[in-house]
This record gives sequence, C-alpha cells and structure tokens, in this order.
Amino acid sequence: MDMLSCHYLHSRLKLNETKMSSRGHSIPPDERLMTPELMRRLSLIQRLTGFHAATDVHGRYNRHREGYVFSNGEMFDAGSDDFRDDMKKLFQLMHDDVADGVLRAIERRLELLPQSYFQQEFGPTRTSSQWHIKRYVVKGNDNKPSEQDGTEILLPAHTDPSLISVVIIDQVGKNEGGMGLEVFHQRHCLQTSTLKGGSWKEITHHGHEVAVIFIGSVLSYLTKGRVYSAARHRVVNYKSSDCDMLQDNEFVRPKGNAKMNTLPSRHVMVIDDMVGAYEKKKTAQTFLSWNARVAKNYVKRNLSVTN
Ligand SMILES: [Fe+2]
Repeated sequence: MDMLSCHYLHSRLKLNETKMSSRGHSIPPDERLMTPELMRRLSLIQRLTGFHAATDVHGRYNRHREGYVFSNGEMFDAGSDDFRDDMKKLFQLMHDDVADGVLRAIERRLELLPQSYFQQEFGPTRTSSQWHIKRYVVKGNDNKPSEQDGTEILLPAHTDPSLISVVIIDQVGKNEGGMGLEVFHQRHCLQTSTLKGGSWKEITHHGHEVAVIFIGSVLSYLTKGRVYSAARHRVVNYKSSDCDMLQDNEFVRPKGNAKMNTLPSRHVMVIDDMVGAYEKKKTAQTFLSWNARVAKNYVKRNLSVTN
C-alpha cells in the first residue's frame, strides 16, 4: 500500500481542493417528509463526491477533519494525472479485497445462503458504498477541540450507518496503538445479563498492514443486535506524532432499495421471529427509508451542536 504513504496523500490533500458537488438524483419519497434544511444537509452527507475543508458548517463531525469523499462508486479528477487511477486502486483494495472478504466471513459465521448473500440482497455494494480519505486538522484550526473528562475530542462518539466499515490509518507497516482512534467497550453484568457502563480503549495497532473493521448500525439492525452490535468509536487528540493522522474509511452500505429484513440465520432468528417472517419480509422498509430516519437524527444532533 505504498500509495497510502503519509507524504503522498498529505501533499495531495494540500494541492487539490475540488469543491463538493451534488450529483443530481431525484428526491426519494422518504426524504420528501424532511424539511428542506435537513434535506440539504442529509444530501451533503450521503451523496457528495469531492473535497471538503475542516469546518463545523455541517456539524461537529467534520470540525477537525478535511479530505475527500467518494459516494456510490463515483470518481473525480483532482489536479494530477494519476489521482484517479490511484484512488481506483485504493478503493479496489478497501472494498473488493478487505470489505468483501469480511462480509463473506460473516456469511459463513451466520451460515447464510445463498453464497454471497450480502452482495445478492444488498449490493452491489461497490456502487452504493461511500469512502473517505481524511486527515485530522488541529494546528491552525479555529475550532478548538471539545473536552470530555480531560480528553480532547476530535471526532465525537458515534456508530457508522453501514454494514461494516474498514479503517486504515496512514502509517507504514504495523504500529502500536491507534493514534487516538478509540472504541467503547461495554461492560456486561453476568448476574443480570445486562449492559453496565464501560470504558474507551484505543485500538491496539494501526498502519498499512492493519485494517480495522467496525460493525455498523445496519448490520446490528439486521441481526437485531444479537450477534453483532454496532461499534461505538471516537477519535481523541493524539499529540505525540509529527504527522497528522490521516485515515481511509470505507463505509459498506446497501443499495437504496434493499429490504432491511432480519438475516435468515439460525444464529439471529428465534422462534418468534420465524412466525410471520414471510409477511414481515414483504413489508420490510428499504435501506433508503431506514437511513433517512437514522440520518435525520444524525443531522439533528449536528444542528443542535452548531446552532
Ligand atoms: Fe465512524
């Protein structure tokens, strides 16, 4: 993964500032229920391909991040001949090699049939996913990091609206720690079988030889949280590096009209789920509908912080 070298992408991010541009899709019925302002912000989050600077204009999630966003298999040129080819290679690695390999492992774990269940029912995810290359900007940023228990927060705690997310941090090789990327570890009370508090822990390793996989809220929903729970994560200020953290994130999300049916696995369904499953299957909401509802809350949280 030489193309992910720190200096390579950092120089790209400095050189190329292509403005975000919306690709003119028609407005789906679910989104007509939203206010124009929420619609506009939702569109910015979900459909854009291009560059954005670190700003809190669209909420707190990008206050300290800048970089490229690619949606739904779209690509663009950014000032140099090999940019497009490099990005295609990177996307192929993240999606075809890593993400699809993980989804197939999950299919085996859940004994899902037919083979390639996720691609058949929810894909092709190659043209419905979103991926980012972003770096964290702290020095020279007018926005000061918020603090929580004495820790500076660069990316607030959240779960990803994806089946799975793949994260690779731009450092050569395999290195100790996570450069500030943390996951919330929930504590289970064995006596009462309930969740009881927890703590934030930095991921153990990072670098080009390490792909971090987060379970997203889509997979959590499809398994009723019984097998896979969405990973809550955040990024805190990491001060001991001379190279700003740069991350490549692949959010594997379903196509818009995919039905959000509970996965037909004996590891997921209990007897009650199987009764009436056929009827439920016919009336299941689409990913677009589900995501519009989830994103609406996400955007509201953004607005409540920035306004
Ligand atoms: Fe995330």
